[in-house]
Parts: sequence; C-alpha cells; structure tokens
Amino acid sequence: MEMTDAPSMIGRPLARLDGRAKVTGAARYAAEFAPPGMLHGFLVDATVATGRVAALDARTALASPGVHAVIWHGNAPRLPWNEPVSPEFTRPDGARLRAFADDRVRFVGQPIAVVVADTIEQAHFAASLINVTYAEQRDPVVDFTEASAAATLRRDDTTARGDPDAAFAASDAQVDCSTVIARETHSPLESHVTIAHWQQGKLRLWDKSQWVSNVARVLAGDFGLEPGDVEVISPYVGGAFGSGGRVWPHTEIAAIAARELDRPVKIELTRRQMFNLVGHRPYTEQRVRLGANSDGLLTAILHDGAAETSRHERFSEGLLRPTRMLYGCADVATSYIVVPRDTSTPTYMRAPGEASGLFALETAMDELAWQLRLDPVELRLRNDPTHDLHSNLPFSSRSLAACLRQGAETFGWSKRRLEPGSWIEDGEQVGYGVAVATYPANYVRASARVRLSANGSATVESATSDMGPGTYTSLAQVAADALGLPVEAIAVEIGRSALPNTPPHGGSMTMASVGSAVLAACNAVKQKLAQITGTEHAPAKLVPAPEDSLVEQLRRAGLAQIEADGHSNPGDTAKRFSMHAFGAVFVEVRVDRELGLVRIPRIHGAYGVGRVVNPRLTRSQCTGGMIGGVGMALFEASELDRASGRVINADLAEYLIPTQADIGELTVAFVEETDPHVNPLGVKGVGEIAVCGAAPAIANAVWHATGKRLRDLPIRLEALLERRM
Ligand code: MOS
Repeated sequence: MEMTDAPSMIGRPLARLDGRAKVTGAARYAAEFAPPGMLHGFLVDATVATGRVAALDARTALASPGVHAVIWHGNAPRLPWNEPVSPEFTRPDGARLRAFADDRVRFVGQPIAVVVADTIEQAHFAASLINVTYAEQRDPVVDFTEASAAATLRRDDTTARGDPDAAFAASDAQVDCSTVIARETHSPLESHVTIAHWQQGKLRLWDKSQWVSNVARVLAGDFGLEPGDVEVISPYVGGAFGSGGRVWPHTEIAAIAARELDRPVKIELTRRQMFNLVGHRPYTEQRVRLGANSDGLLTAILHDGAAETSRHERFSEGLLRPTRMLYGCADVATSYIVVPRDTSTPTYMRAPGEASGLFALETAMDELAWQLRLDPVELRLRNDPTHDLHSNLPFSSRSLAACLRQGAETFGWSKRRLEPGSWIEDGEQVGYGVAVATYPANYVRASARVRLSANGSATVESATSDMGPGTYTSLAQVAADALGLPVEAIAVEIGRSALPNTPPHGGSMTMASVGSAVLAACNAVKQKLAQITGTEHAPAKLVPAPEDSLVEQLRRAGLAQIEADGHSNPGDTAKRFSMHAFGAVFVEVRVDRELGLVRIPRIHGAYGVGRVVNPRLTRSQCTGGMIGGVGMALFEASELDRASGRVINADLAEYLIPTQADIGELTVAFVEETDPHVNPLGVKGVGEIAVCGAAPAIANAVWHATGKRLRDLPIRLEALLERRM
C-alpha cells in the first residue's frame, strides 16, 4: 500500500473551531440551560466568621411573593456524605464543608441557608428578610502573625539535601529576601452556577466546572447514589483559573434544594459570593536565602514558605517545587507551613504554588546578581544543572538556557545597563527585568472515545472541559491528524461526565493527558479496522493515500462506523524522568517618578514546551498567562478586614484586574524542543508556565528602573512614592 505524507494537522495555527458559536451566543454555558419548572435559589451568607447559627427566622421570607422554601440546617435532609469512589486530589486535607449538616459558622460568607423562589429577584429579596441569631462567637483569627501560632508544618514539602545552613554561612555572597504575596481571587468573567434536576432518583447537573467526572462522583457520594446516577453537563466554561477544580457548597445546595422541592433549582453566585465560596490563591509569606561563590555559582538555597489556609481544611500547593530542581546547587533546604485563619479555604489558582514560589526565588536571584555585579541572565545560565538534583533524575528535556539566550536576543536585553535607576527616557525611569519560568509537565491517566463514520466524519468524546484554552480545537487537530481527515470533519464532544473519564482540566495537563488518550483512541480505531479488513496498520502516524483512506476501507467493509476507546498511559514515566516546561520572561517597565505609576510597554516570553499542537491558541494561552502575571505583580489583592474576617473589596470595582489599557506588547516564542519521553504527543502543556516568572520579571524591572526593591505583591503606587531605599 502506498503511503503519502499528508500535511500534518498538528502544528497548524487554526482559529478556534468553536469561535463562531461563542461570539454568536450559540455556545451554551451552564447558566443558560433552563429545564422546565426551574426555580431559583439564593444563598444566605453568614455575616460573622465564627460561632453557631442559634436560630433562623424565615417567617417573613416564606410569606414573601414567589418563595417556595427556605432550607437551612434546621430543616435540611440528613445526607450520607460518603466519600467519592475515587480520590479527589484537588481537595485538601481536613473536613470539607457539608452544606447545612451542622450549625457551625466557619467563615464570613459561608452559606447558612438557601431561599428558593420562582425568580432570582424574589429569592434575593426574600433572603434579605431572614433573621439569623448567632451564638458562641469569638473574635476571628485573621491577622497572619497571630494565626501563625497554630501553623502546621507540611512535612512532604519540607526537604533538605547537603548542609545548606553551613554552606550559606560559608558563602562569598549572601542574599536574604523576604516576600509577601496578597491573597488573590480568580475572578473569571462567568460566575459559578449549578442547575440541579432530579428525575426518578437520578441527578442531572448543569455546572460550571473544570472537572465534571469529579463533580459526578462527589455528588453521588453526598447523596449515597451510584456514580452513574449523577450526570454533570458543562459544555462551555467562561474562564475559571482553578476556581472550577473542586466541588463547592453551592453545587450541593442546588441538589439538596431540587430534591426537597422536586423541581429543578438553579443557584448562581453573585460576584461578591465568588470572593468567599470558590477559593482563592492563598496569602503567602516567603523567605529565600541564597549563597554563592564569587564566580556566581550557587552554594546554598534555603526557602521557607508560609501560606494561609482555613481552619477546617489544610490547603497547600507546589510552592517550593521549583526551588528544589531549578538550579544546580548541592545544598538546598525547603520548609512549608500552613497557617489557619477563620476564613474560607484557598484553592489552586493560575499556576498554583509555582507562580508564588518563583516570585520569591527569582526576586532573590535578581538581588544576588546585583550583589555579584553579574548580568541576571548570565547568573542563571551559570547555574543551569545537568539533571534534577532533587529527584536525581534526568530531565526529559530542558530548554532553559535556550529560552534565556534566544529570549534575551529577541528582547534586546544587551541594551540594559547593569546599574539600576540610571536609565531615564522621556522623563520616565526605564527598567528591564528577567525571571525564569517553570511548570511541571503533568501527564496522567485520561480516556477518550473516537467514532469514525463511513460518511467521512469522526467524533471525539471525552469528559474533559474547555475553560478557554481551545481544547475543542486542539483535540480535533490530534484526531484529524491521526485519522487523515480534515479538521472540519471532526466533532468534539466534551464537558459531560457520562463521557470517558478525565483528570481535572487544570494543571496544564489536558493536551498531554487527554490529547494522548485521543491519539490512543484513534490508533485503536485503526487497529480495529485493520483486524476487520485484514490489513496491517502500524499505529504510527502514517496517513494512507486518499484512495485507501480509513473511511474508504470502512465503506468497503460495509460498516457504517467504527468506535474505540483509548487511554493515556503514564506508566512509570515520572519515575524515570523529571518533566517540566521551562521559560524565560523579559519585561520592560516605565515608571512615572511623580505618580509612581508603573507601565509595562512590553513582555517577551520564550518557552520550551515540547511540541506545539496549535501555535495560535498556544500563543494566546501564553499572553493570557502573562496578563495573569501582570495582575499578580501590579493589581490583584483580596483584602481581609482583620476585625471581621470579611473580604472588603469583594467586587470588580475594587478588586483590580488588568484591563486592555494596562497591557502593552506581549510577544511569545517557542524554542525548538523535541521531547520523546514526556508523553506520546510530546507536548508539555501550556497556560500556567506563562503565569510563572512574569510577576518577578516585572518586579525586577521595577527595581532596575527605580533602584527600589519591592518584595510585596501587588506593587502599589504608595510603595514607589516612598523615599528611595
Ligand atoms: Mo488551574 S489553577 O490548574 O485551573
């Protein structure tokens, strides 16, 4: 049989296949479904941070127009609250909040009742008529230093190699750098919403989620159902950044209310509620000590992290992971404590852990470079290791040096003078900053189903989501490539728990894991066909000539369609290789000396991320990640009132995120990188890598422009207007 080398669908800069549906409104998000008879629930939030709900007077609310019920722990059904059949690895240790299961108040904003009415306005109004009496209140512990008395050590994250204390003491150069990162809130455009609908004892949910498979398993456990008795539907997600990674109480409350009233119930969170009920990036304090010899080789790294959690759950993240493997240093110690406050539980947000840890490490590296009077790019190149010194494994591939060199070249780094605060243009202080980015190349088990039809089309089915990166399009490209079909012939169906099981659509693991599962399913289709037709098909990516296409073979065999499941199979890859994406971020800032205003005319990121399935969408993910980094560096902070435990800026007027006018030119380059080990597609996953490094590169550029070393994020005008340091 003659094989032609058809042009690959992988690597093409296609626009989103669902772009038209999105801009015309044809794409339906969870909130846009409306099963017949649907009622609206509005959550009543605790106005205090501690204590018990002693009494709840709902008489006036119940008499209010349109109101069907007020449900709270005093009248809520007692549920089994079983643990889900498979572990929920986005969930922290501790006791999750079980809606209305007890009278305890754990944080301001905790849902203590739901009002269900015909319309959202009626429910909202009636909620304002409810009188709650609290008891056993005490002053909430919110102040971080005060809360630190009850801190617990995260042993898994507390590691050491060599003798870092002694090595640090003996170093020629020493840096001791303490940083603070404010609590940040995901703030996706689409708010969180669940519509719950029971039919014959089975539950269907339309839910904004990054992990529909998990929502189904958790809700099945809550109500003591079989996992197959819960179906979760989430075809489009309007951004999430991690807030849709776990099941939050409003989802369970919608299901409780719908069951009690035997009507579908919709609960959509207000923007204000999103600051308490769907997680946040934890407030984090870090100290990094670096030692180096006079040649600029690191001799010691000590990195201590402390981050907030709630009192009922102990959330932690990969804060210290980059520090252990990024640089070639024999003596390294990390320690991590979590500090319980009387607030809601944090969760993963936009490169959780890595983005925060790298801010501390890469700020300290910049300080070390200046102390040694070394170019910061050169300092990092000198400390590029040959293998991962933490795991003692080879890197599956590592392009950090190439990213630093090529990025510096493209950016024009050589124009930078070493001396800070010495570059004035048009009355503004100009600074260049650099930082390293890294994020793990996560690759886990995932499943997909592919159906090839004799009419020349194919369907890809998988429970994964698309919260914005372009999963619909990239999965279609993988299938089109493997099946030798045009990309338009591929229909992608995702976002339903009844479809083959997948991991969370997060951790930048979707292309690696689900993409590999789609590839495996396509290969399984080919093998099935080969068995039927008696021809041999190598599972390699060889596209037959058009006259003997898979579709042609299917027709000749008299089959209408052929279907197969495929699974990604990580096996022991992670035990044999240290797998990470790397990058280098270059930033130019201009600072107005009178106003302290920081502008960022350009950011350039060079990344080594393995194979790029769709350069256009991948670039878009990277610019999105960079903008997240700008938010982290200059704007985002959820401020807690120490006395009450309230988030005092819980709206988009006062929780600042970057706007179009805040963003200058963003350029992205992917360095050539072929990784034969990381997964069958050779992709490392993108999105979060671009959040990493951006904030420290910005802060380092601000230092270079002004001579002010600002170690607290976000960088505020007032910090820049303070007297020179
Ligand atoms: Mo993410 S924080 O993996 O959505």
